[in-house]
Amino acid sequence: NKFLFFKGVPLLSHIHDVEHIQRMQDEFEFQDEDVIVMTYPKSGTHWMIHILSLIYSKGDPTWVKSVPYWERCPWIEIKTNMENVKNKANSHLFTSHLPAHLFPKSYFTSKAKILYVARNPKDILVSALHFRNHFPIFPSYSTFEHFFEDFLQGNVPFGSWFDHIKGWLPMRHSENFLLLTYEELHQNLKVTVEKVCQFLGKELSEEEINSVMENASFQVMKNHILENKELVPAEDMKSLKIVLMRKGICGDWKNHFTVTQMETFNKQYQEKMKGMDQNLFPWDQC
Ligand code: A3P
Repeated sequence: NKFLFFKGVPLLSHIHDVEHIQRMQDEFEFQDEDVIVMTYPKSGTHWMIHILSLIYSKGDPTWVKSVPYWERCPWIEIKTNMENVKNKANSHLFTSHLPAHLFPKSYFTSKAKILYVARNPKDILVSALHFRNHFPIFPSYSTFEHFFEDFLQGNVPFGSWFDHIKGWLPMRHSENFLLLTYEELHQNLKVTVEKVCQFLGKELSEEEINSVMENASFQVMKNHILENKELVPAEDMKSLKIVLMRKGICGDWKNHFTVTQMETFNKQYQEKMKGMDQNLFPWDQC
């Protein structure tokens, strides 16, 4: 296993650096105009990065087509990304998968804004398994069952989904935190894009909003990502790019879980989410 454990959280040893994360946590100063896309991996991170970029370019797709997503919205926890953007003019947009207890402390006293995208953890599990099996540096899982267990135990990058969501959820009453779901993006992209614009204080015309929506659709995004050669850092990452835009649907878990696995998952969900608001998420009832 290539995990690197930091304060109990499994991270990826080939891209993460404990010293960097610790330094970011203690010293990185967020500015009021900063915006962070925050997710547990496979929750729709790239979708939200795309939407955010398009909102900032008022629906014009030139930026998303010509600049790789990791330069538009660098992951805070990746040292090389942060070094690359340090001196660039537009470095107010960021991405992160960090659990709340590892995130730069300055956020909690700043006006920087977090867009947190949550997704049905059963669909995350399925998406993560496919992604993991295309990740060149990791050996593939030979069975679904094995990954299912690791996921529930939090033996996956960034640890347990339950810990991630429970760590961040208390922030949802703050003015600088917007809780969104992958499912609501699906259900009504327009309303969600408008909600994001309002949260960010961005006024876009009807036409501009329509262009954001058009360019953030699954198919158009897939083409943007696949067409852009610069977005393949290495030849062996090609399949990773394809799996990044895999199916893009809600409820794919039903094609993978057995009835027993569904029951096991539901039981754990009930136990781990005890004391949290019921009906907070669209998947709480299914
Ligand atoms: P699936 O593997 O279920 O298809 P992340 O960006 O956090 O890694 O999440 C990846 C998931 O988001 C993938 O899910 C991917 O297909 C989905 N996704 C990305 N862009 C999307 C879009 N425009 N519409 C719907 N789903 C999208």
